[in-house]
Amino acid sequence: MGDIILDVSDLNIEFHDHDNPETVVFDFDLTLEKGEIVGIVGESGSGKSMSALAIAGLLKRHALTKTGRIMFDGHDLLTCDRETLRGYQGDEIAMIFQEPMTSLNPVKKIGWQVEECLRIHHKDMTKADRKKRAIEMIDAVGIHEPEKVYNMYPHELSGGMRQRIMIAAAMIANPQILIADEPTTALDVTVQAQIVELLKKLNREKGTSIIFISHDLSLISQICQRVLVMNKGYVVETGTTEQVFNAPREEYTRKLIAAIPRIDV
Ligand SMILES: Nc1ncnc2c1ncn2[C@@H]1O[C@H](COP(=O)(O)OP(=O)(O)OP(=O)(O)O)[C@@H](O)[C@H]1O
Ligand SMILES: [Mg+2]
Repeated sequence: MGDIILDVSDLNIEFHDHDNPETVVFDFDLTLEKGEIVGIVGESGSGKSMSALAIAGLLKRHALTKTGRIMFDGHDLLTCDRETLRGYQGDEIAMIFQEPMTSLNPVKKIGWQVEECLRIHHKDMTKADRKKRAIEMIDAVGIHEPEKVYNMYPHELSGGMRQRIMIAAAMIANPQILIADEPTTALDVTVQAQIVELLKKLNREKGTSIIFISHDLSLISQICQRVLVMNKGYVVETGTTEQVFNAPREEYTRKLIAAIPRIDV
């Protein structure tokens, strides 16, 4: 077994913003090895995003209670001090979302947004170095004329290009973990495939571990080595992609697979 870089155990997430608290994630466990791509599948509302946001440290603290452990780099991200957590956020653990338009700031140039993590976490870098690195990164995600795109605004780009820019921004500091929450759902099928190829390439070249969340079991089977299946806040099945898709142990997984037309693993 390789090096485990993230070890989540017994994670429970409970909301308090109404009178009666509601648990939305129960006893979530996940280990992630260096360079591994793990998928999380499950119906809408099954707790995929809540679990991912908790790992990324992005759940709003006041609205909920979390119990369990999220071990990364010798720290429990649920109990460590804010400064330690902030040090990891975006720099070591980065996240991309479904709709890049809502994550990108419409009035800021692409270059400024791609460099954000460097401005926050690598204050020693000069402006010129940041720009150089941003242009390299825009190029690395497969965008032509990176210098030109550096000076453009989000609305001047297609949806697929915006998602590439989000990936460039997430990957610029070479994070150990990238969490991709439905990164291709808003894109057409051809662009989806390109984004998946890009994530695989970054994973191969940089050794980034990826948590890939999707409804799309076919995409999951193309990119992930291991899969977690969630239902109503519980991880109901976990195993290698091949095992989960070809020999699912749980009735719920069988139903999920039966709901898609055809799948080749
Ligand atoms: N602010 C909130 N207060 C109470 N419950 C919430 C809140 N936000 C989300 N939930 C609930 O948490 C549960 C898990 O939501 P989550 O977003 O993790 O689902 P998901 O698996 O990512 O779904 P989808 O596939 O639609 O993105 C849902 O039942 C949702 O209704
Ligand atoms: Mg979600």
